[in-house]
Amino acid sequence: MKPIERLLLLLVAAAALVGLAMTFTSGATSEHDVLAETAADAAGPGLDPALATALAASMEQLFGGYKQPKLPEGGMPGVTSEQELRSGRSGYAVKCTQCHGVTGAADTGTAALLKPRPRSFRLGKIKFTSTAAGQPPVLADLERVIRDGVPTTSMAGFPTLPENARRELAGYAQYLLMRGATELAALERIEAGGLAAEQMSAVVAEEYAAVRAAWAAAVPADPPIPETPRGDAAHARAEELFAESACLSCHGADGSGKGPVAYAGGKWLLRDEWGDEARPRAFSEGRWFGGSAPEDLYRRIAFGVKGTPMPPLAGALAPEEIWALVHYVQDFAKEGQR
Ligand code: HEC
Ligand code: HEC
Repeated sequence: MKPIERLLLLLVAAAALVGLAMTFTSGATSEHDVLAETAADAAGPGLDPALATALAASMEQLFGGYKQPKLPEGGMPGVTSEQELRSGRSGYAVKCTQCHGVTGAADTGTAALLKPRPRSFRLGKIKFTSTAAGQPPVLADLERVIRDGVPTTSMAGFPTLPENARRELAGYAQYLLMRGATELAALERIEAGGLAAEQMSAVVAEEYAAVRAAWAAAVPADPPIPETPRGDAAHARAEELFAESACLSCHGADGSGKGPVAYAGGKWLLRDEWGDEARPRAFSEGRWFGGSAPEDLYRRIAFGVKGTPMPPLAGALAPEEIWALVHYVQDFAKEGQR
């Protein structure tokens, strides 16, 4: 098993045990006690039970429980108070939990029936951001997806919610993402070996500080030059690039999304980091998942779709070439509508 796959299994186990803990909290036993008791069971033979218990306790110490989340020490970029975090959590419980799950693991019965599957926040990343490749999203990216949803999927937008309610929901989604990223990093440290249970809370605090620094440093990356005009020369160049830069091998010469690398024998061949089918966008439909403004499409081609095989091309192509490709993919949809 690849190390990342193992970590994912451990994450699922860790999420399951917290979920389990929540169902017990109504009784006399505290969330904390149940966490400690079940950590060892849930981790199974893969993870040292003492370390698993220490990890669960350290995570809870820093982030609180999922019922009573805490603003972690050092704060969280974009979330101004614990009050705000908790009201985001209340909104999340009503509007998001059925698909994204209490812990953000998207492990609910509803989620299992949906295609594409709701995003699990436990890997600490989302697909569509305004930030450069390798950077976490900014709060505005989460607000955008909550407002507009993801077209053609079950992720409907919430355009009529007041703006501050959307910001609180975005803040809570960010909390779940950062919490997942921290836990994943701590599990990687455990996997690397040599840790004692007593060190766990320091390790979790250290990993959170690194996650927080990365999120605080993330900024929207705007196209370096304004949109260039369309023209025959630019179109011809884009056509060449579409073949040379392998767009064609995934998206297909006809823009159907069924290029030879992506689709063969009636099957979709690519996977994303969440383990789900990654279907290259069918340009002819003209439905863009990450926003349909020209700048959004520029960012998709320059920075890729995070966690998926859609590669970032900013290093390989000049800005005017990327603009030419933006127009080129937009034109597939225009042709489709004729
Ligand atoms: C009916 C199910 C459903 C509900 C309810 C739902 N979502 Fe989603 N959500 C999805 C699906 C499905 C996707 C994945 C779409 C994709 O693969 O592109 C998703 C994706 C996301 C993403 C990630 C987008 C990306 O760029 O990867 C965020 C953030 C998100 N949802 C937040 C929320 C929040 C916050 C709520 C509640 C206000 C919510 N969702 C309610 C199904 C749902
Ligand atoms: C290795 C396969 C692969 C290659 C090469 C590739 N793509 Fe993609 N592309 C994808 C996949 C998969 C998605 C959908 C990701 C998702 O939403 O899960 C995608 C999505 C997109 C989107 C849609 C963004 C949105 O918001 O809906 C655009 C635009 C795009 N690709 C353009 C290009 C261009 C232009 C090239 C060449 C420079 C290219 N792609 C090369 C696989 C690829």
